[in-house]
Amino acid sequence: MKILKTSLNKKDFLSLNDLCKEEILSILELSKNLKKDLKNGKSSQLLKGKTLAMIFQKPSTRTRLSFEIGILQLGGTAIYLSSNDLQLARGESIEDTARTLSLYVDLIMARVYAHSDIEKLASYSSVPVINGLSDIFHPCQILADLLTIQEQKNTFNGLKVAWIGDGNNVCNDLVLGCSKIGMNLSIACPPGFEPNNDVLDVARKEAYRSSTEISITDDPLIAVRDADVLATDTFISIGKDGERQRREEIFLPRYQVNSDLLNLAKQDCIFMHCLPASRGREVTSEVIDGKASVVWDQAENRLHAQKALMSMLPLK
Ligand code: CP
Ligand code: NVA
Repeated sequence: MKILKTSLNKKDFLSLNDLCKEEILSILELSKNLKKDLKNGKSSQLLKGKTLAMIFQKPSTRTRLSFEIGILQLGGTAIYLSSNDLQLARGESIEDTARTLSLYVDLIMARVYAHSDIEKLASYSSVPVINGLSDIFHPCQILADLLTIQEQKNTFNGLKVAWIGDGNNVCNDLVLGCSKIGMNLSIACPPGFEPNNDVLDVARKEAYRSSTEISITDDPLIAVRDADVLATDTFISIGKDGERQRREEIFLPRYQVNSDLLNLAKQDCIFMHCLPASRGREVTSEVIDGKASVVWDQAENRLHAQKALMSMLPLK
């Protein structure tokens, strides 16, 4: 497949809504090339001399490391900024923080609680802003996950993805990703834990265009039937710790991905999880450590997909 586009239309990447199918496929293509180059010891200095500011309101292992190492491998530099260490902690506005950072860096990545914070950051920055996770979206994860699915299955056409559990930030971008790229998606979640309604409205229109289906049920046994991909995430996202007991009572045992559930999917079904996982809760160790699991490919692909994304954003 050739690279269809070399730069993205929108300045910012806040959710999969910011990309069209052609742009997603181009990012995946460049990701694969960068991955191959890295494995062959070839360095690509696509971001030579560029600087990335990374603001974190929440903890992270994969996002922080993959962005920092990714830009380093492309010849640039990353600066880690805990929001507690910025003047943000003393009340400086996001607007003024955005204006200030734009004077120094070429690119901003932020992990925030409220999605409105990253929208504000993007509106007031003159440089591209990437969402490294908000309460509604986690688009970088889904780029890596689409890359992983493409590597594993060699196609998206006709595939069925089943999402079991919380209709959370990762699920919202998966809904957009599947509908844009053309995969069927079946979501099983307890009533009240469905994906975001606005996201579903957009995705249903995309799904209509790509002749695919998005279905929502409360029954994991229905969602998993004939699935090529089975995905889940924690029931307790960052910031939801106060709801731990209530959530565990609602989600367990019905929404756990275990071998019995996996066995109801297609024989060659892969298991996906963005990590970090709570083993014994949303997934058993038997599944996450089993032969269907591609969770380490997903984690690795964060690096390659984000290198491609950063290289394709319209930097000054
Ligand atoms: N999957 C993911 O975003 O992991 P981190 O929270 O460790 O960044
Ligand atoms: N849904 C999880 C994803 C973590 C990478 C959270 O928001 O904590």
